[in-house]
Amino acid sequence: MRLSFRLIASLVFGLTLVSLLFAVYQVGAENRAKRNELERRAQILAESLQLAIEPLLEKGSQAKLHQIVEKFGSREGLAGVVIYGKEGNPLFMTSALVDRFGREAPRLYSAVFEGQAWKNFFQLAETEMLVYAVPLRSGDHIAGALAVFDDATYIQAQNINMWRDTFIRVLVQMLVVAAITILIIRWSMIRPIARMAQWIKDVRAGKEVSHRDLFAEGVLQPLTKEVTHLATSLREARASAEEEARLRDAGESQWTAERLRVSLQGTLAGSRLFVVSNREPYQQSYRGNSVETIVPASGLVTAMEPILCASDGTWIAHGAGDADRAMVDQNDRLRVPPEEPKYTLRRVWLTREEEEGYYYGFANEGLWPLCHIAHTRPIFRAEDWRYYQEVNQKFAEAVLEEIENEKNPIVLVQDYHFALLPQYIKQKRPDARVAIFWHIPWPNSEAFGICPWQHDLLDGLLGADLIGFHIQSHCRNFLDTVDRALESRIEWERMTVTRGGHLTLVHPFPISVDLHEERDQTVGTDAIYLERAALLARLDTGAGFLGIGVDRLDYTKGIPERLHGIERFLEQHPSYSGRFTFVQIGAPTRTRINRYQDLISEVEAEVERINRRFQTERWKPIIFFKRHHSHKEIEPFYRAADICFVTSLHDGMNLVAKEFIASRSDGGGTVILSRFAGASQELPDALIVNPYDTDQVAEALRMALEMSPEERRGRMKRMRRTVKENNIYTWAAHLISAVSEIRLEMPERVKTSALAARQ
Ligand code: G6P
Repeated sequence: MRLSFRLIASLVFGLTLVSLLFAVYQVGAENRAKRNELERRAQILAESLQLAIEPLLEKGSQAKLHQIVEKFGSREGLAGVVIYGKEGNPLFMTSALVDRFGREAPRLYSAVFEGQAWKNFFQLAETEMLVYAVPLRSGDHIAGALAVFDDATYIQAQNINMWRDTFIRVLVQMLVVAAITILIIRWSMIRPIARMAQWIKDVRAGKEVSHRDLFAEGVLQPLTKEVTHLATSLREARASAEEEARLRDAGESQWTAERLRVSLQGTLAGSRLFVVSNREPYQQSYRGNSVETIVPASGLVTAMEPILCASDGTWIAHGAGDADRAMVDQNDRLRVPPEEPKYTLRRVWLTREEEEGYYYGFANEGLWPLCHIAHTRPIFRAEDWRYYQEVNQKFAEAVLEEIENEKNPIVLVQDYHFALLPQYIKQKRPDARVAIFWHIPWPNSEAFGICPWQHDLLDGLLGADLIGFHIQSHCRNFLDTVDRALESRIEWERMTVTRGGHLTLVHPFPISVDLHEERDQTVGTDAIYLERAALLARLDTGAGFLGIGVDRLDYTKGIPERLHGIERFLEQHPSYSGRFTFVQIGAPTRTRINRYQDLISEVEAEVERINRRFQTERWKPIIFFKRHHSHKEIEPFYRAADICFVTSLHDGMNLVAKEFIASRSDGGGTVILSRFAGASQELPDALIVNPYDTDQVAEALRMALEMSPEERRGRMKRMRRTVKENNIYTWAAHLISAVSEIRLEMPERVKTSALAARQ
């Protein structure tokens, strides 16, 4: 309150001062103008009288002189006229002046009698007067002077009036400004601050309140934003503390973001963490004049962010957004997350040719089909291989720069884009702990052996201290590949490879999603029911049963196979016509590669063919949405669907199955899951199928639709328990503990004991 009083007082004082300065200037200017005007009038009169009087003076016609002087002297506004003799003695004076001066008229400036005109303002008792005098000539000598007297008192009176008006105007102005300021402060500050205070109070008291109204206030928006962040952090901290307490109480040992953060602070013991991936966690692109930040809906970001934030780590990735360069500093670094910076993103720039050769070429036309047994032939081009090596080298240089001054850094390399990176880093920094996680399957040794550069790839990978795969069989395939291709020592029970004196652990870490109770509680049963009804209405399908598939449009995902299974089901069970609809959400990906374009055309054609075969006037069996959907857009489909289809021909893990399970807090829904997806190892309660077996897929669909509610709920309950226990934080915690437990200076055998003990 005191603050707003001071604010208003300063504002009013400032405005008053400025108004007064203007008034002083204005009154001064008006005063000068009026005096000039009076002088001008007096001058004109004096000069015209001068012309009339001079001849009379010469003739000595006293009576005429007297008459003219009296006539002009009594003109309105004029005080009077005096005619002086050449010695300065008054000869004639208008009678009005005699009343003011008596017989003694004021003396004139002597220069008048030497031929100069003269003017002067002077004070006579209460009256201010102007005298304007001109010399009177007779022939070529000065015979006397004529003086015109004007009353200038009215100018002062007008000045006083002006000052009075100015004061009144300033006063009114002041009152209006003060009133408006009070209103503005009340509406734009006091009310929002009071609302914010109440909101903070409610947050502190643990009430669930929306902050949406707070954002409407323009002036305080930056403050509101900060306070909201603060409150959100407070709420999150409280929620995780409650969650921890609940888990402790229930004797559960579930990993949460908070537990991961706290636990890894101890595990890392001062080591900083460096993550390397091809895709960046924050990609920035121009949208009109502003920059838009895109966060990929990726499990990796969910898992790595809490740890990078806690250890002030660095994420090194390809800067692929068109605004990415404009946002980094001179070292190509940027602090992220943008709204609350806690760790560093180091961007690596690639030329078009590098991206073409390394990413599209070697990684996605070579390694991707090589590692996924989906019967798409890998393409190996020597030029792509050269770019793959160069880009791995480029990333190695960036990593080496980032870890230059770090003691005991931990580097977590992600995926098949960087098979050579571990070796490149370790050659220069043997003291760094390096792990690589291979997110895709590792095929059997014969399949991998067709790669012309298999030895280089294996040596690159074996530079790491730890290689992670999703499942045990990928680890075994890898060890078998090394066994057949390279001179090395493999310990199968301990899952280690020793080559050139360097030991590498090979271990499974099944990746997962974030399933936590707090999120589950936000969507109640009624809300789910209404949401499902709204979704079905939007889809405009009369069907009561809904199936969903969510995939990148990749040939490894078995989308045509799934469509064929649905077709077979409708063939065999015509009673489901009009009752079951399948929605395929497909995000186009890597579309510069022909095989991906072909797949899109194939899926579109198959959807059309099957629909044409079975559709009725009011129903279509398949709806295909061909675009990227955010996680938020996908969630309602997950919650509404009766069945989720995951029919990959080969997949490292497949998180769609786990995301579907995580979304089903209602306990409903069934998963049809390919036995060739890593997830099938952890989820025996899904309906496991061979996607190549069309009849089996059709039968699984029938089983899912006709399963008893008890069985469905029982299966979902067990799957939810698995995903909850083995969530994304479990994955990160196990991976990072394993790499940080590696004691580099220890003999090889002892090096594995820490991991063995943990197992
Ligand atoms: C696979 C890989 C991921 C990759 C994703 C998207 O799932 O294992 O590492 O992020 O595909 O691929 P993209 O080529 O779009 O980055």
